[in-house]
Amino acid sequence: MPWSMPAFLPEGDQPVFLRLADAIIHDIRRGRLVAGERLPSSRVLAGELGVHRNTVLASLAELTSQGWIASQPARGMFVASALPAAAPPRRLVRRADLSSGKAQRRGERRAGGARGGRELADDENDHDDATRRTSAGFALPPALFRDEPRDASARRGMLHMDSATPDPRLFPVELLARAWRRTLLRNGRQLLTYDSPQGHPALLRALAAMLRQTRGMACGDDELLTTRGSQMAIDLVARTLLAPGDAVAVEALGYRPAWSALAWAGAELLPVHVDRHGLDVAALGRLAEQRRLRAVYLTPHHHYPTTVTLSPARRMQLMALAQRHRLLVIEDDYDSELHFEGRPVAPLASADPLRHVIYIGTLSKILAPGLRLGFLSASPDVIAQLSQARFVMDRQGDWPMEAAVAELIEEGELQRHVRRMRRECLDRRDALADELHGKLDSSLRFEPPRGGMALWAEVDPELDATAWCEAALAAGLALARPSQWAFSAPPPNALRLAYSELRRPELRRAVEILEKTRGAAKRKKPVGKKRGGR
Ligand SMILES: Cc1ncc(COP(=O)(O)O)c(C=O)c1O
Repeated sequence: MPWSMPAFLPEGDQPVFLRLADAIIHDIRRGRLVAGERLPSSRVLAGELGVHRNTVLASLAELTSQGWIASQPARGMFVASALPAAAPPRRLVRRADLSSGKAQRRGERRAGGARGGRELADDENDHDDATRRTSAGFALPPALFRDEPRDASARRGMLHMDSATPDPRLFPVELLARAWRRTLLRNGRQLLTYDSPQGHPALLRALAAMLRQTRGMACGDDELLTTRGSQMAIDLVARTLLAPGDAVAVEALGYRPAWSALAWAGAELLPVHVDRHGLDVAALGRLAEQRRLRAVYLTPHHHYPTTVTLSPARRMQLMALAQRHRLLVIEDDYDSELHFEGRPVAPLASADPLRHVIYIGTLSKILAPGLRLGFLSASPDVIAQLSQARFVMDRQGDWPMEAAVAELIEEGELQRHVRRMRRECLDRRDALADELHGKLDSSLRFEPPRGGMALWAEVDPELDATAWCEAALAAGLALARPSQWAFSAPPPNALRLAYSELRRPELRRAVEILEKTRGAAKRKKPVGKKRGGR
């Protein structure tokens, strides 16, 4: 049902335009109005409330200035996709403070009875982080993310190179829908009840066979656990196998969602340098000599974000280090199927008789991230422990979906789809590389990746990659911001251009936008002091 204004504005002695803004904020906060939703026109709102249109316009201007709503040219006003973080309603009053001392006193009354301005100011700082509070007064811990995860609705209609995910237009909808229907018709009773948290046995069998055949891993069904994507796998490992305060090495340019899971479990994260051969294992060794390291999390097959592969020499050194220091190696092998040249490098887990490695895989890259299907391989005792943790967190996976995907694997359909995805990705990689060579050769330095869904390009030092991202976003091309991958400042002056979601003509348009916005990324030259004179 479309949103409509409440019949009455809240009581109060503030001007009507502020009370109207307050009412809209209230509806956004309680979810009656959601991010991206269009507001009725000012004329309609004025008519509904029986107020002058200028009053509504003043109210909308107030809401815009505070970031609650945003206008889209020729389309109207929309609820903002990134809402002001837990902004207290009294902010409205604080703006009014500027124009009227009377309003300030009223604001103080409203914000907490007899409390003075000083407390009010302190209170506002609360919202900065450490002790944020809900409207009911419960303390909230500091926010987990600096940047919100990608909000697709806010960027509908844009070209996306910000997230290396499969093109949804290539998703085998019919195949999966048929398999899902068949398995439910056949085994509905078994699939729709409580069962093992380890995963549907057919999917465990199918994944184990796939890992044996394609990744050289001798993996039995009791050495596997299904998860809702790699993210749950990393979280389970962090919660179950790490203790608060454990030191965990991570790639200094790396995958922030994994860092968040590890840090949330209380781990102390220690960044290790990455170069064109992947993680600097010698640096990891030095760190392990200085500190008691419990684990290392890494993406050896295609390092995220730079796409390089950990060299064979470093792989051997890493496994020796793991043995020497009894390190848990958390191997995130997120896109191993999408290797273009030769055979994919075998995972670390394939040469790990003592089982230092916890191996994590996902179907997000070959099917779709929205399915939330991933898996984890470890020794049977670890799997049993993690299954218990999964029970506590999630009870069990989505059995109907797991059974349907198992059927796709058993029938060879998933493997056919993977081959198609690989061809598409290779074609798109080449198309992107050609376009970049043609239009931006002087500004970007890159090697076409040997697999995966994104191309890593170093940006000419005269240009600022972050400014380029901002300008491209404003022109309709979404790019990942470099700060996203850097453990600590400064971020790399590079772009990670995901090509997997875009067809050739779209890639051409994307590169045109990059070319058009390059000027905005030019760094300002420091103004030199005038020479001469006395
Ligand atoms: C390094 C890395 N690991 C894992 C994933 C997949 O995450 P999930 O399986 O939770 O969708 C991604 C997706 O972008 C990734 O970049």
